[in-house]
Amino acid sequence: MKLLVTGGAGFIGSNFVLYWLAHHSEDVVVNFDALTYAGNLENLKSVEKNPQYSFVKGDITNPQDVEKAMQGVNIVVHFAAESHVDRSIMDPSTFVRTNVLGTQVLLEAAKKVGVKKFHHVSTDEVFGSLELGSTEKFSETTPYNPHSPYSASKAGSDHLVRAYHDTYGLPITITNCSNNYGPYHFPEKLFSLTITNILEGKKVPVYTPGNHVRDWLYVEDHVRAIEMVLQKGKDGETYCIGGMTQDVSNLEAVKMILRLMGKDDSSIELVKDRPGHDVRYAIDWTKINTELGWSPSVSLEEGLQKTIAWYTEHRDWWMDVKSGTYAEYYTKQYQER
Ligand code: NAD
Ligand code: TYD
Repeated sequence: MKLLVTGGAGFIGSNFVLYWLAHHSEDVVVNFDALTYAGNLENLKSVEKNPQYSFVKGDITNPQDVEKAMQGVNIVVHFAAESHVDRSIMDPSTFVRTNVLGTQVLLEAAKKVGVKKFHHVSTDEVFGSLELGSTEKFSETTPYNPHSPYSASKAGSDHLVRAYHDTYGLPITITNCSNNYGPYHFPEKLFSLTITNILEGKKVPVYTPGNHVRDWLYVEDHVRAIEMVLQKGKDGETYCIGGMTQDVSNLEAVKMILRLMGKDDSSIELVKDRPGHDVRYAIDWTKINTELGWSPSVSLEEGLQKTIAWYTEHRDWWMDVKSGTYAEYYTKQYQER
């Protein structure tokens, strides 16, 4: 089987490529990535000489790049995206271009070569926000109600993927998953930022009032879920993936990280809130559990321990990532908060 993995140099994509090559050594994996600020080939150093793996630098919005890479491909696993909400608030246009147009360019090329499966990796953020303190959860039947330019662009991509199935019969599946964390996470997201800031002796910015709730999913659990959908998922279907059964607020999660790292709460700095900030996400993962037999296997505390250990042991990786243009972004994002 030949897989085209888009965005394989990013956080979840690189975890997927490493996992797939380790568990499906007979398959060929082509990693197609534009290497934006979020793409890092250091994540894939351990497989760069593996004859089953190759890297193609290309942009999903470029039909020539995409058509060339799509030749002979059986399965597309589409991770490539602009993925950070705060960056989408600063500059929405890149999000529309990559997430909406890029997905359509890929779908068109996949249709032309007649792939066996086009799997689209999406987010629970397309469903909008749940009420704080409620027991409501997002599921496959929740209506779309995105609030940020990021989630709106991902919603657009989901609709296009379904449209290619319904109109042209393209064999697609979609997963909408919650907030991932784990190794190789770019340090702009809450957990990776918190852990690396603590390791640097810096303050941890928490958006006021810190009671927002996310459903945290350890990245390897997510990768296993995608594996099951690729192997057993039904064409045209959507599966929601989440990691939690109980609400944990951002402030509680950050305090847990501080405790696991042997620190008190004095490094927490409550900063100005994000505009349009979704209050609560929670996922009902019954469908993937009952139909495909998947459930999360890593608890939040266990996942945080593994993640903290990884960042502690891979200081060079994130110190390198945090220098240069990331430092400019950080100043712009947090200076007036
Ligand atoms: P990431 O930002 O870490 O990586 C994105 C990758 O896509 C990078 O390697 C980047 O170089 C590549 N890319 C960006 N634009 C491209 C383009 N035009 N052409 C080719 N490659 C391009 O993202 P991530 O956190 O790994 O997320 C992967 C996918 O999962 C995304 O589609 C995201 O929406 C979705 N998702 C992420 C989370 C999460 O918590 N991180 C949660 C739900 C869904
Ligand atoms: P983030 O990791 O950006 O993921 P998303 O916005 O896609 O859910 O943010 C997770 C939560 O943490 C969200 O409620 C915003 C909050 N947050 C902070 O409090 N401080 C920060 O510096 C960041 C980046 C996020």
